[in-house]
Amino acid sequence: MRDISYDYLEKIRDILLEEGHSIGSLRYHVATFGCQMNARDSEKLRGMLEYAGFSESPDEDCDIVIYNTCTVRENANQKVYGRLGELKGIKKKNPFMKIVLCGCMMEEKAEEERIKKSYPFVDIVFGTMNLSDFPRLLYQNLKYEEKQYEVTPIDRKNDELLLSKIKSDPILPTKRKYPFKSGVNITYGCNNFCTYCIVPFVRGPERSRRKEDILDEIRALSRDGVIEIMLLGQNVNSYNDPGDKTTFPMLLRSVEEIEGIERIRFMTSHPKDLSNELIEVMSASKKLCRHIHLPLQSGSTKVLSEMNRHYTKESYLSLVDRIKNKLPDISLTTDIMVGFPGETEEDFLETCDVVKRAGFDSAFTFIYSKRDGTPAADRRDQIDETVVHERFDRLLSLIHEKSSENSKRFVGQTLPVLVEEKNSHDQSLVTGRLSQNAIVHFKGDESLIGRIVPVTIKESHDFYFFGEPALS
Ligand code: SAH
Ligand code: SF4
Ligand code: F3S
Repeated sequence: MRDISYDYLEKIRDILLEEGHSIGSLRYHVATFGCQMNARDSEKLRGMLEYAGFSESPDEDCDIVIYNTCTVRENANQKVYGRLGELKGIKKKNPFMKIVLCGCMMEEKAEEERIKKSYPFVDIVFGTMNLSDFPRLLYQNLKYEEKQYEVTPIDRKNDELLLSKIKSDPILPTKRKYPFKSGVNITYGCNNFCTYCIVPFVRGPERSRRKEDILDEIRALSRDGVIEIMLLGQNVNSYNDPGDKTTFPMLLRSVEEIEGIERIRFMTSHPKDLSNELIEVMSASKKLCRHIHLPLQSGSTKVLSEMNRHYTKESYLSLVDRIKNKLPDISLTTDIMVGFPGETEEDFLETCDVVKRAGFDSAFTFIYSKRDGTPAADRRDQIDETVVHERFDRLLSLIHEKSSENSKRFVGQTLPVLVEEKNSHDQSLVTGRLSQNAIVHFKGDESLIGRIVPVTIKESHDFYFFGEPALS
């Protein structure tokens, strides 16, 4: 069924035409501050604005600017405020300009209040539960020239409003960044409550989409030219169809059957829920990419327990062994956090030990950031900043050393690369990705974009490579 948001988008188009603007003459810019799920929401925002008759602008010097915010770490918030300050100047020159804030940061009461008080030039604010309300809010703003604030609070008491938002999963127009690949949400929200993490409070309770809705979306994407999809969720392994109880490995089997889809990725896998069945499904599949992002967070069993992660150093390492035994060509990447409250030098050395033993191809490293409302933020044993920075630097150089060592194994191999774009530094090169997710640069032209071609890997640099097109 067509969602009501389309009606509002058409009404917006009518208002613009009535005011003498031609289709495409007004421009928008959507900036994404967060994770893949945040990026997927941005694609829906772009799709909605295109449907209403706006065209995309590469920068903020335009008519509608949307900041799709993230609040997972303090510096994500600071970036938004920094750029908001600059927008004020642009708006002075263009009185029509609308400034819109949405995403995870808006689900924090304190941030919403701060925006209301100190940033009165913001026109529209909405929360993570209100993506499909955006067309109505923009319409109301244009029609009545009033500010619009609509943030459905996530208080987990399951009140009617939150429940109805959770149940609705409308199909919204989207504009993808790449014509040949796309993210697809399979779960929303999170129930894991890692003690440092704000995501469950800003994204709400975990809910799985219906399998049939997911498959329909992927079939439509395939018809539209998509050959690679990434299934998205905070913990894809806990996917469970609300109706027929399809699990994640079962879902993967069905996705595999969809014609036209050549590569399937997923993100993120929580180590506590990664099953042997998933490893089996991957090893039997040619379409499932040889990459697992498996956030470690810490290598200390004590810290992991205080983080509420539900695995130990040993069980993590044995999971890595099981994966590598069945999938010898797998690439493993991870997230690691330094400076969780109470982390001792010994705990940190345990993390380094896992990095030495697990053979990660690359790792995202973060300094622990205190998030209001999370249990870890109340702890009194926060770690001194200088100690944290010193550990962080040691970890970075260890990861650098290990990933340089690991990536050498690809040199000399001829592997399929999905070409994504022209290289921005050297116009004679194109850039693509291995099934293992690593980036490869090689000589080629635009005609290769969107195609999977064999490339012989010549040089390795951490987790990116230079290659040469192989004759096929
Ligand atoms: N659902 C994913 C993680 C999503 S957040 C998972 O559980 O693996 C992405 C990463 O941000 C996390 O893996 C973690 O390493 C980091 N992160 C989350 N909260 C953080 C905090 N308060 N401080 C620093 N890093 C944090
Ligand atoms: Fe945050 Fe943990 Fe949920 Fe990941 S699994 S989003 S780290 S609470
Ligand atoms: Fe950030 Fe929200 Fe993603 S807090 S990491 S954008 S779920």
